[in-house]
Amino acid sequence: MRKTALILAAGQGTRMKSETPKVLHKVCGRSMLKHVLDAAEGSGAEQNVVVVGHGADEVIEKTGAPGLTFVHQKQQLGTGHAVLMAEHVLPEEGLVLVLCGDTPLITKETLKEFITYHEEAENSVSVLTAIFEEPYGYGRIVKDPEGRLLKIVEEKDADPEEKKIKEINSGMYCFDAASLKANLKKITNDNAQGEYYLTDLIEIAVKQEEKTGAYPVKNREEIMGVNTRVQLAAAEGIMRKRINEKHMLAGVGMVDPEAVYIETDVEIGKDTLIYPGAILSGKTIIGEGCVIGQNCRIENSVIGEGTEVQSSTIIDSKVGKDTSIGPYAYLRPKSSIGNDVKIGDFVEVKNASIGDGSKASHLSYIGDADVGKDVNIGCGVVFVNYDGVNKFRSTVEDEAFIGSNSNLVAPVHVEKRGYVAAGTTITRKVAEGTLVVGRPKERVIQGWGERKMKEKKEKKNVK
Ligand code: UD1
Ligand code: CA
Repeated sequence: MRKTALILAAGQGTRMKSETPKVLHKVCGRSMLKHVLDAAEGSGAEQNVVVVGHGADEVIEKTGAPGLTFVHQKQQLGTGHAVLMAEHVLPEEGLVLVLCGDTPLITKETLKEFITYHEEAENSVSVLTAIFEEPYGYGRIVKDPEGRLLKIVEEKDADPEEKKIKEINSGMYCFDAASLKANLKKITNDNAQGEYYLTDLIEIAVKQEEKTGAYPVKNREEIMGVNTRVQLAAAEGIMRKRINEKHMLAGVGMVDPEAVYIETDVEIGKDTLIYPGAILSGKTIIGEGCVIGQNCRIENSVIGEGTEVQSSTIIDSKVGKDTSIGPYAYLRPKSSIGNDVKIGDFVEVKNASIGDGSKASHLSYIGDADVGKDVNIGCGVVFVNYDGVNKFRSTVEDEAFIGSNSNLVAPVHVEKRGYVAAGTTITRKVAEGTLVVGRPKERVIQGWGERKMKEKKEKKNVK
């Protein structure tokens, strides 16, 4: 059967106290709306429609994808009205799955089960429900003594008896498309909130003797709606746990999973061990057998197998195999580090490539450079890439040796096996295999220490 998912996302989300439309707030690096869309797609929906209203342009801009349809609801007159706005894009037949854009924890597995239930029961409408000990605020599922679904009543319209009902409406439904289209127009706004309630479709269907049913969700977490930043953080906590468990079950080690922060799209190879405080975000891919040490932040980067990263920040970069990064290294965007490389403490790399087997063990800045293989970059080396106006690029060829505390004033070229003596400032090409020493000659002054000592003593005696 053809399946269409319709996601309601026009509401403002006032309680988030934010300039950002509610459904664009992120849970583990992905917007709530995107999470819902992914679950819908994963459950087999071929067509996805999103109803947008508040912040529509931003929502469309940030969520737009091929095959995704947006419809506008200019005024938020209720959930029934929201669906009515999409009526013209819904199919004549098949199944319509209605979801909310602010329930990021819903899973494709649950939606699949729900759809199967709906199809097997041959219902015209099915509601995904949950049993809540504290049902306040939710629509209540009203059933007859035989347990047949009769209607959904909103908190504000419920009588004292109905308020005691603990089965609540998740806001997710399966509809037979033809029945939905036919009945939508029958919804009125004759209720406590003066809104067009989508939930009225249950009673309408029941009155027409169409088959309806309620399907309780197995894991209540999944229908949690996010209205405040407190709930957003709670949803993030649940999602984080799911993500970490998925990785651990796939062979990734975590010393303390509660202190590891991995976004949705991150991939990690097996036998990689992750220490507390690691934040892995964006489209990061970590190879097998790596060690990601404490307090590492790795964003949109690829780390090769067997590499060890300690207390470092890596952004939009690539690191090869069996390499060692940190502690306290900073790889800024467009850095490409080879295999068997060492980038040690307090080394900053930016928009630079470093070939296999090279080393920058401590305290250097390598910006805008192409460094070859087996190069040694000594302690305190600076690639002077900026003249105050322009940035320039430098090249250091294979097996070169850049002595400690040297400056390479870009653009400069150190040829193969070129040596730069410690403390040298290079402004010109270093030819293949040559040594350049560019430091002032030392002077030797005999007896200096003795003299200073004497001066000090005399000063003291005067006091
Ligand atoms: C709705 C249900 C309630 C259910 C609850 C679950 C109705 C009448 N009530 O109530 O039974 O227990 O969800 O969370 O449906 N939206 C629009 N346009 C509108 C109004 C809402 O797009 O005009 C969207 C919102 O952005 C949101 C979703 O629909 O994503 C639900 O709206 P919300 O106002 O949160 O519904 P509730 O009053 O909580
Ligand atoms: Ca409401």
